[in-house]
Amino acid sequence: MYRFTFILQEQFSVTDSNYKLFESLKHSSQIFQNEEVFEPSFIPECLLHRETELKTLVQHFKPIINRKPTALGTHVIIQGSVGLGKTTIVKQFGSTLEQYCREKQGEDIAQILFFYLNCRRQRSWSILFTTILRQLVPAFPVRGFSAAELLTYMCSIMKERNQKLLLCLDEIDYLVSKAQGQDILYALIRNNEGYLHENNSPLSLILITRSRQLYTYLDSALYSSLSKRMIIFHPYNATQLYDILLARAKNGLNLSTYSNEILKEIAIIAHTSGDARYALELLWRAAKVADSEHSKEILFEHVRKAQVSSFPIKQSLITDLPLHQKIVLFSITSILKRQNDTMYAFTGDVKRKYEKTCQNTGVSPRKQTQFWVYLQELHKIGLIKLEVINRHKKGKSLGRTGKVSISDLPVNELVEYLQKIIPEL
Ligand SMILES: Nc1ncnc2c1ncn2[C@@H]1O[C@H](COP(=O)(O)OP(=O)(O)OP(=O)(O)O)[C@@H](O)[C@H]1O
Ligand SMILES: [Mg+2]
Repeated sequence: MYRFTFILQEQFSVTDSNYKLFESLKHSSQIFQNEEVFEPSFIPECLLHRETELKTLVQHFKPIINRKPTALGTHVIIQGSVGLGKTTIVKQFGSTLEQYCREKQGEDIAQILFFYLNCRRQRSWSILFTTILRQLVPAFPVRGFSAAELLTYMCSIMKERNQKLLLCLDEIDYLVSKAQGQDILYALIRNNEGYLHENNSPLSLILITRSRQLYTYLDSALYSSLSKRMIIFHPYNATQLYDILLARAKNGLNLSTYSNEILKEIAIIAHTSGDARYALELLWRAAKVADSEHSKEILFEHVRKAQVSSFPIKQSLITDLPLHQKIVLFSITSILKRQNDTMYAFTGDVKRKYEKTCQNTGVSPRKQTQFWVYLQELHKIGLIKLEVINRHKKGKSLGRTGKVSISDLPVNELVEYLQKIIPEL
């Protein structure tokens, strides 16, 4: 022990400023009352301005909860862009539903098990079903069954136990876009047809997606039946974001460290994307800057500094992109930079810029279909917003076009950053 201490003292000198750094750990924050409320895992008690969506969700599942005979279960799609409360609302709904069913046991209420899974974290459908099965039957083998077999087995267990399974698959696009992904989604949705004769389907679904492209994976009849139960989450406006920020500030920050003006400013900055996550993160970052400067309150300058520092969050996402997606993103950002005062670029212009950039850099450009896949991938991970327009003339399809925008990243810095990380440019 002594020897160890001696060696340390020999090798590293303890400076005053280093020592103070550790001393500062002892001082409690002037700004934060409870920083945990800004963590991604934090679930707020109530979701402001999502009352209608929650009511709609409850209404959709009313027949199941009340044990009404249902031939096809209930499948709901929730669609909306980044940070709109989709995941949070479903988690809240699921846990309240389970608790409600437990408490009403004995009354004529169904016993519903709620499972939430994020498809981005699942490498395959088989792994996803096995994860659920292992919770239902702890000794269930990890390998050895196909996804279709696992699905059938999962439903038969629920039938045997006379329970219902409500499965929420968040970011569903990740699994659907994989090999055979669409077939299993199809089987999952159609699975209940096996129970048609007894009007007692064991499985219901909540599918969450950011993109509007889910229909491209399903046949039109199936999609149109599903779309009757689609809940669209719209971006928050500045007033709604202000309310969300205020509620979180009351919870997490010391009183008098934030003003209405500061919260309004953050709400206005974030309202172009309508993204609550971004707004809350900006508030948290501004509070961190204020704290590190030992300020007694959050000032506008802290918000400005926070805005600049929020770009690195997405830098790692961009660095990890495959080369062609980087070039597509570069093409979008260079057009937006050049246009300066317009919010979006047309996909036709982006395609031309992409091809030109590929030629200039000696990379062979991919075909139209693949180019669209790149755009959709970038949209899916929230780096761009893609609005697809399907063109028709006299009932004939003229193909699709679209508009692309980037609302929450500084375009000039993005161009510079992409120029740095694409070696071919
Ligand atoms: N109405 C709201 N009231 C309070 N907090 C909210 C509200 N909507 C979103 N949030 C907060 O914003 C953050 C993002 O919400 P959530 O993760 O549910 O968004 P999402 O729509 O699932 O986004 P993504 O598509 O990126 O997964 C969370 O911290 C959540 O607590
Ligand atoms: Mg989510």
